[in-house]
Amino acid sequence: MNNPISILGIAGSLRKQSYNRSALRAATKLVPEGATLDTFELDGIPGFNQDEERNPPAKVVELKKRVRAADAVLIVTPEFNYSVPGVLKNAIDWASRPYGDSAWTGKPAAIMGASLGMIGTARAQYHLRQMFVFLNVFPVNQPEVMIARAAERFDAEGNLTDEDTKEHIRRLLQGLVEWTRRISGNPG
Ligand SMILES: Cc1cc2nc3c(=O)[nH]c(=O)nc-3n(C[C@H](O)[C@H](O)[C@H](O)COP(=O)(O)O)c2cc1C
Repeated sequence: MNNPISILGIAGSLRKQSYNRSALRAATKLVPEGATLDTFELDGIPGFNQDEERNPPAKVVELKKRVRAADAVLIVTPEFNYSVPGVLKNAIDWASRPYGDSAWTGKPAAIMGASLGMIGTARAQYHLRQMFVFLNVFPVNQPEVMIARAAERFDAEGNLTDEDTKEHIRRLLQGLVEWTRRISGNPG
């Protein structure tokens, strides 16, 4: 493939043994041919302060640069109190500012998430989709990858062991690559 699609993966958890960071790590091994998946860690990003938006911290400068350089983004989010975790929202907010200089504009995206419960982050994912409307991010609609009962699907080292989940992630990444080529006019 002449023009590989570069995907930037961001997990919305800072926890060492995070299921979502583990799911993102699993995704890096399930990327289709013709694409790459690199990750960005959200640790170290301070709380958003609009007074600082024109002079953002180095980590935010790096985040915006990495998002802009990527052809597409993959967000892997936990669900906290029926929505996205503050660390993820905070990073999204920083990278959307100052007004008129958002790194997200026009970016193709895919969403997935893992939770301990039965709902598999559905509510958080729909809140993220709502944010994408204002950010003008274009998410893949299907497949929706909602990893419920995460504790049953990863081993003690955080390796994804569930074959169905792997297949869903594979299909999501394939869909993201096709969607990105379609809307960016990069046939590969
Ligand atoms: C503050 C907080 C709020 C939570 N709220 C939800 C929730 O609304 N829905 C849900 O399914 N799980 C919820 N959980 C449980 C998470 O699914 C679980 O902690 C999960 O492991 C977090 O993702 P991580 O492993 O990637 O850190 C919550 C956990 C925390 C710490």
